Amino acid sequence: MTPEKLVALAKEAMTHAYAPYSGYKVGAALLCSDGSVYQGCNIENSAYSPTNCAERTAFFKAVYDGHRDFTAIAICGGKDGVITGSFPPCGVCRQVMREFCKPDFQIYIIGKDGYEAQTLADLLPHSFSL
Ligand code: THU
Repeated sequence: MTPEKLVALAKEAMTHAYAPYSGYKVGAALLCSDGSVYQGCNIENSAYSPTNCAERTAFFKAVYDGHRDFTAIAICGGKDGVITGSFPPCGVCRQVMREFCKPDFQIYIIGKDGYEAQTLADLLPHSFSL
């Protein structure tokens, strides 16, 4: 699995988004260490706070299926599914990544023209865990 293929899978996942309230469609593709990939989209709710982000949808699907070891995630998003800029993961999603991933976990933040690679340590320094 190349970063470019993971990016393509995140873009495909974005088309599954349920985002009638914000209009922002988000997609994620999570690479497990065994090579399997889980896609996720954001799923909004009229009460707003029950909304689930694309990244967490991908993680929760994978964890339910027994995966605990992850290599990388690609993320994209944009109004009406049009990518005009980067869509970095929110703080809650970063903390979920922290639960399951090592500091060198790769995060590909997709922009209009390509993607930027960051690590979890870059995006969540001095992180909390038990
Ligand atoms: N969203 C994600 O899916 N991932 C993030 O990391 C940040 C925000 C979604 C939630 C909501 O449906 C929409 O983007 C606008 O906030």
